[in-house]
Amino acid sequence: MEKAADIEAAVAALKRGGLVIMPTETVYGLAADAGDARAVAAVYAAKGRPAFNPLIAHVADVATARRIARFDERAERLAAAFWPGPLTLVLPVEDDALVCDLARAGLDTVAVRSPAHLVAHALLEAFGGPLVAPSANRSGRPSPTTYADAVEETGPAAAAALDGGPCAIGLESTVVALIDEARLLRPGSVTRSQIEALIGPLLEAEADARRSPGRLSRHYAPSLPLRLNATEPRTDEVWLGFGPHGGSGFNLSPEGDLAEAAANLFAYLRAADRSQGAAGISVAPIPDTGLGEAINDRLRRAAGFVG
Ligand code: TXA
Ligand code: MG
Repeated sequence: MEKAADIEAAVAALKRGGLVIMPTETVYGLAADAGDARAVAAVYAAKGRPAFNPLIAHVADVATARRIARFDERAERLAAAFWPGPLTLVLPVEDDALVCDLARAGLDTVAVRSPAHLVAHALLEAFGGPLVAPSANRSGRPSPTTYADAVEETGPAAAAALDGGPCAIGLESTVVALIDEARLLRPGSVTRSQIEALIGPLLEAEADARRSPGRLSRHYAPSLPLRLNATEPRTDEVWLGFGPHGGSGFNLSPEGDLAEAAANLFAYLRAADRSQGAAGISVAPIPDTGLGEAINDRLRRAAGFVG
C-alpha cells in the first residue's frame, strides 16, 4: 500500500498539471485536476480518446460532489446508499469552473463519483478538489485492473503512479443519468435492481449519442476476435470459460461466481490476447442476471456488437 510521501508527491504532480495513475475499487484511472484544461487535454492525448467522450469527476465525499453537480432527491438517495463506491451519477452541472468544459466535452451535465478505494480516497482528500480519471487504458483497450497493466498502458504519460494492488471489482462503475428520467448509461457492479429498488424503473440509454457518449461500439477490445456464448473452443481459439469445465485455457470463475468473473474479466482478456498462435478467443455463456448484465455488456463491446 502507498505511503503518505507517495500521496504527497502525487498531489504535487497534480498541482503542476501532471497526470497520476490512481487505483480505484473498479479499475485503475489516469487522474488529472478536473479544473485544469491543459491537464485534461493531456489525459485525452495519453488515451488517444475522442474528445467528445466526457470524463468522470472523482470526489472525496458527497459535500464536494454537491458543489459540482445539482443533486435531486434521487441523487441524494443513491449517493447515501452506494457512496463511496462503484456508482457514477450524471447530473446537471452546478459550478462549471470546478470541472472544465473539456472534461465535460462541452455538455451542461457532469458525471460524479466517490471511489471506495483507500488510496484513491487519500489522494482526493489530500488534493482537495475533483480529479477526472478515465480508465488508465489507451482508448478502445481493456481497462487495467492491476498496477502493472495500468503502467503498461499509460505509464509513460504519468508523472506519478500509485500502486493499490489488484482492483477488487474489476469492471468500471455503473453510470446512471438523472437529467430527466433516470437512465442506465453503463451497467456495473451496482446492479439495475439495486438502483430500481431505491428510485424506481431505469430507462435505457438514449440513442442520442450526445447524451450517452460512452456507448461507442468497439470498446474494451483485445486484438484477437471474440466469439461469445460458445459451447467449446475451436482448435485455433483460446478458451475463456465460466463455471465447471474440463478444457484448457482460462476460466473466469470455476465456481460460476459472477463477482469473481467480473474481477478476472479484463486481466484474462489481456492474457488470452497474448496467447501464441491463437486466431481468436471463444467465451462461454455468462448468465445475464445481476452483475452478469455488466459482464455481458463489456463482452459484447469487446466483440464489437454494440452500436
Ligand atoms: O469505474 C470507473 O468509472 C472508472 C474509474 C477509474 O473510476 N472510470 C471510468 O471512466 O470508467 P471512463 O472515462 O472510462 O468512463 C466514463 C463514462 C463514459 O462512458 C462516459 O461517456 C460517461 O462516463 N460520461 C461521463 N460524463 C458524462 C456525461 N456528462 N453524460 C453522459 N455520460 C457521461
Ligand atoms: Mg474506459
